[in-house]
Amino acid sequence: MVAPDVASPSAPEIAGEALRRRTFAVISHPDAGKSTLTEAVMLHARVIAEAGAVHGKAGRKSTVSDWMDMEKARGISISSTALQFAYHHRDGAECVVNLVDTPGHADFSEDTYRVLSAVDCAVMLIDAAKGLEPQTLKLFQVCRHRGIPIITVINKWDRPGRDALELLDEIERRIGLRPTPLTWPVGIAGDFHGVIDRATGEFVRFTRTAGGATLAPEERMRADRARELTGADFDTAQEECALLSADGADFNRETFLAGRTTPLLFTSAILNFGVSQLLDALIEHAPAPQAPVDVAGRPRAIDAPFSALVFKVQAGMDSAHRDRVAFARVCSGAFRRGDVVTHAASGRPFTTKYAQSVFGQQRTSLDTAYPGDVIGLVNATSLRPGDTLYVDAPVEYPAIPSFAPEHFAVARGCDTSKHKQFRRGIAQLEQEGVVQVLRSDLRGDQAPVLAAVGPMQFEVASHRMGGELSAPIQLEHLSYTVARRTRPEDAPFLQAQRGVEVLTRTDGALLALFSDKWWMETLLRNNPDLVLEPLIAAAD
Ligand code: G4P
Repeated sequence: MVAPDVASPSAPEIAGEALRRRTFAVISHPDAGKSTLTEAVMLHARVIAEAGAVHGKAGRKSTVSDWMDMEKARGISISSTALQFAYHHRDGAECVVNLVDTPGHADFSEDTYRVLSAVDCAVMLIDAAKGLEPQTLKLFQVCRHRGIPIITVINKWDRPGRDALELLDEIERRIGLRPTPLTWPVGIAGDFHGVIDRATGEFVRFTRTAGGATLAPEERMRADRARELTGADFDTAQEECALLSADGADFNRETFLAGRTTPLLFTSAILNFGVSQLLDALIEHAPAPQAPVDVAGRPRAIDAPFSALVFKVQAGMDSAHRDRVAFARVCSGAFRRGDVVTHAASGRPFTTKYAQSVFGQQRTSLDTAYPGDVIGLVNATSLRPGDTLYVDAPVEYPAIPSFAPEHFAVARGCDTSKHKQFRRGIAQLEQEGVVQVLRSDLRGDQAPVLAAVGPMQFEVASHRMGGELSAPIQLEHLSYTVARRTRPEDAPFLQAQRGVEVLTRTDGALLALFSDKWWMETLLRNNPDLVLEPLIAAAD
């Protein structure tokens, strides 16, 4: 059923809108410059709508999120949402870019991973002085698992860092992704004149503007003029480019989309250098939203009736209203506020009168959205991550996988008279995907084990239980670090081992928890019939 008062976009219109969209996320280790890059991107773009854009650190002007007291206290953003802007490509094409934000703190959670199910491309941001860092590697593994193509950005080239060829070598050696630089630096990190645009051979000059506050003019020039300005450094860069080409490190769209190569650029986000080249690269090379594939492996045309995948549920965004917002990525068709959509999991109709784009505490109604866009549905109490919404032709998309938890804690209610609230609250957190919940007869219903990818998920769970869910909890941390899926016939043996516990997850999966990986591997070696399946791990 559709809203009667808004004209329905035609199939060619929908296909055209999808074609000019790019939806991506930045994956990086904290401090690599993600907030700075996001701000620089906004400077280059005309911001259309921001669905709860959260970036920046405490004290920074652009920090707009104050969803949770905890976030304020820690000066970090826990939530992930999307920012939409229009961008004019160098050749004049007007595109719409959706930047889906991943939390920027050292700790991480399942949310970070779920966000990656909403994007078509990832930008891997690397600090020129540090190279690949642990969180970048974990996020990279998730992108690889999901087949998301990656553009690599080496940032902070304005200050001393590592050698460019050495960084390329590290990427290829450690993650098996072959860098194919789109730009190549003239001058070393810290003593940098600009980059060669490898597609045209032109030199793009780097000029410092005060703190990157204004958009630096991009000065492009031919090689002879560049050589006059930069001397031997330009010759060296040209020689290195020739070596890269001889070594087969030129951009190749097919291998990029297949996840075997990564186009690479050099930037100084703080000085705004390289940002328009990154946006141009996204438009030229990153895939537009593709026809989504349903749970049975059948594609649904991009211009088929509306369908969307919920990838994140955020509660407590507005303490005055205590509401919940479900963020969904449009997979097919056009979304129009007021449409009555069907929730595939329950088959029940769901009204979208309150579809909004959310920006910190500010909200604006969202009227239309196309494939690749992110919509925020307010007070969508029945929606959970992985749910499908559709109009007319039924469809269900594959669920977002649960990632391997690495942190475990027993939750107990502080007030035994609040047993009902406790059970309801834990069920709610489980449904929203804040934590995974594991149970066993041995521990009983009063003491479920909460499992998380990152310990911050526990903080969020405690905060929510003590706050709007009205059942404060105490957490007793357990010393397990590894979880594997096992079979019912192996459970009694495992349960009898020291340092091992078997519990059932709410989705029915039987999980064996081990104190450490070494012990798990020893048990496997000594008992060859034992079946222990790895869960989807961030990084092993
Ligand atoms: P994050 O979101 O990935 O955690 O990183 P963020 O943008 O906050 O950047 C981390 C630090 O790196 C900041 O410095 C920021 O100014 C600096 N930075 C980011 N991009 C560049 C760059 O291209 N060149 C240089 N030289 N520095 C860069 P800070 O001192 O921690 O914070 P602030 O006081 O500058 O905000």
